[in-house]
Amino acid sequence: MAFAVETSGLTKTFGDANRGVKALDGVSLSVGEGEFFGLLGPNGAGKTTLIRILTTLIRPTSGTARVMGIDVAEDRAGVRERIGVVPQATTSDLDLTGIENMDIYGRFYSISAKERRERIDYLLEIVGLKERGRDLVATYSGGMRRRLEVARALMHRPALLILDEPTLGLDPQSRLVVWDLLTKFRESYRLTILLTTHYMAEAEALCERIAIIDYGKIVAIDTIDGLKKGVPEKDVVTVWFKGLAVDAAAKEIGGLKFVRSAVGEANGLRVAVDDGPYAIPLIMERLKDEGAEVTRVFLKELTLEDVFIHHTGRPIREEEAKGFSYFIGAGMPRRFGR
Ligand SMILES: Nc1ncnc2c1ncn2[C@@H]1O[C@H](COP(=O)(O)OP(=O)(O)O)[C@@H](O)[C@H]1O
Ligand SMILES: [Mg+2]
Repeated sequence: MAFAVETSGLTKTFGDANRGVKALDGVSLSVGEGEFFGLLGPNGAGKTTLIRILTTLIRPTSGTARVMGIDVAEDRAGVRERIGVVPQATTSDLDLTGIENMDIYGRFYSISAKERRERIDYLLEIVGLKERGRDLVATYSGGMRRRLEVARALMHRPALLILDEPTLGLDPQSRLVVWDLLTKFRESYRLTILLTTHYMAEAEALCERIAIIDYGKIVAIDTIDGLKKGVPEKDVVTVWFKGLAVDAAAKEIGGLKFVRSAVGEANGLRVAVDDGPYAIPLIMERLKDEGAEVTRVFLKELTLEDVFIHHTGRPIREEEAKGFSYFIGAGMPRRFGR
């Protein structure tokens, strides 16, 4: 299988080699051609740093990276020709129309005027912006801007589309539209997609394979099913009750031999077990014996959140990134049109 992305022992330290921030700490991963791959991790995990290395914006401190078979340190132009990039910060020009934004990008890649016109028409149609192409981007919503940036990243027919937190800050509705779009592009072309996200639902909805990154290290990498199978417990039972303190209940239930962990959670108990349907009646019986009245039971299958907790000992907080850096993406024609 050919690899769209292949990194080996990538590290990146910002600042002093000893006291600086180690943003990446030995990242080795491969993304197959045609894959939809997700890099999932909390804010500050190193996602953007990895993307900036892959898109040739910064050099790694050590280790190697190949994108579409090309070493990022050896042939930056070659890499940039083959990738489309949607950086974390929005980069479309507010003072220009959607069409103008795309046209400048197309010129940057030396696409002929005729082909630019056709390509813009075609891509704007797919992302649902055909009617708005002649309006200034300043009049677009956040979701429309993102859709334009996805379309723009595909102007030069890249083999690999790289998106850094593509739905950061979007409302749930716009987020779904972007998901739809990516799925559509993925299905219609032989496009490899690599995206980063700190939204578990996003990774779960879109990605075939996921790498979980935390403090600059890949802590797990597999398909979603594989990641879940890698966690010993299989089900999570949440049970609510009256007439018994949560702490006391956690101790009792935690002592049952089929229970992997029992943790108090908002007047209920989160109980991790291997077999939920088997465990539920036994948990209920035990609580009743302790004098509790069970009011509600909920069984859910393991989620990516549980996988993340298993590997890192804490949940991913899905709050928006605060004060994230504004980086200019690879191949962004910043010097045109201004
Ligand atoms: N240019 C920089 N200078 C110094 N530290 C940086 C720089 N860029 C990122 N970092 C630090 O590296 C770590 C990883 O950041 P980043 O790759 O942006 O994470 P993520 O995209 O996963 O939120 C963070 O601790 C961040 O503060
Ligand atoms: Mg980031």
